[in-house]
Amino acid sequence: MFKISVVATLAASASALVKVPLTKMTTMRQAYRESGFVESPEMTKFNKYGATEDNVEIHNYMDAQFYGPISVGTPPVELNVIFDTGSSNLWVPSKQCTNCGSHPTYDDTASSSYGKNGTKFHIQYGSGPVDGFLSSDDVTVGKVLVKQQTFAEITNVQGLGMAYKVGKFDGILGLGWPSIAVDQIPPVFTTMVAQGAVDPVFSFYLSNTNGVDGELTFGGIDKSHYTGDLTYVPVTAKNYWTIGLDAMTVNGKPVTSVKKAIVDSGTSLIAGPKAEVKALAKMVGAFPFLNGEFLIGCKKAATAPDITITLSGKDYTLTAEDYIIHNGPLCLFAFVGIDIPAPAGPLWILGDPWMRKYYTVFDYGNSQVGFAKAA
Ligand SMILES: *[C@@H]1O[C@H](CO)[C@@H](O)[C@H](O)[C@H]1NC(C)=O
Repeated sequence: MFKISVVATLAASASALVKVPLTKMTTMRQAYRESGFVESPEMTKFNKYGATEDNVEIHNYMDAQFYGPISVGTPPVELNVIFDTGSSNLWVPSKQCTNCGSHPTYDDTASSSYGKNGTKFHIQYGSGPVDGFLSSDDVTVGKVLVKQQTFAEITNVQGLGMAYKVGKFDGILGLGWPSIAVDQIPPVFTTMVAQGAVDPVFSFYLSNTNGVDGELTFGGIDKSHYTGDLTYVPVTAKNYWTIGLDAMTVNGKPVTSVKKAIVDSGTSLIAGPKAEVKALAKMVGAFPFLNGEFLIGCKKAATAPDITITLSGKDYTLTAEDYIIHNGPLCLFAFVGIDIPAPAGPLWILGDPWMRKYYTVFDYGNSQVGFAKAA
């Protein structure tokens, strides 16, 4: 358990690749669907990219799927967090939490490296509040020690609802840009880079490797996880990982007029404007299901057309094999209709089905995102 000195030594070299294994879980939405549970109106509200009255971005982790370990404090407490490129704060459950259930918690009174801050932290979700206060402490991600990272110690998780009670994750580690961090707290990756612990790039591999469901690499690119060359697309807005979308087509026919997409590891499907996704579903033979989702015949994998997404002049295809998700006896279409309001939207969200097919490099230093076929 007490690995502090080892960790401190390893953190010194900036060019090392730091790997974090990722585990895939059933999303809460999937779990509800499979249990035949009728979703309440609040649960159907997909509000991750909506804005509240105070214009604070709000999140809904019903759709998050991948998590991995970090540790906080001295001696370290190990917690599982969702590595979410669609948000920018670190939250962990506090020992003082009144409704965190059986999740492990961080006890600031037990950590010799704890730094007091105390500023109140509050986010209002569609389904309720998430409250806590700020603290700082040493955080270890992979083998990287991030010294005195400021984060939210959560004391009330009501707003995360069932997703938190039943979920395998204890906290959230946002990997979005600093501009969308609640309370302008420097995000973990920003601190990591500022402390010289890693080079300013991280990469996601969301496929099975060495018995784990995926791998997140901090400080560089793992060439063993893709084939061919990486192709880079410039970041067009430093909030979410926002890029330009040249086109999306099926058999050469355009399916969207929206020119913007974000790459989001915290969303389990590919999302787009409701009307456009509805038409797209029809073109590939999928039919409406619940909450903007669609079902598709499992056997369609052999015959349904490719969906082509063009980014910076290069065509990327999703074959029927890629966009048909086997879910028990049913098959789910990988695209879901969600209307993201302005100013963030309208936009497309390239979530996990996209990132499973394309190894994704989040190049913070050069403000670009790189893709190559995952292998
Ligand atoms: C608490 O953290 C915030 C965000 O990093 C910072 O702006 C503020 O100065 C800190 N307050 C104290 C009392 O340390």
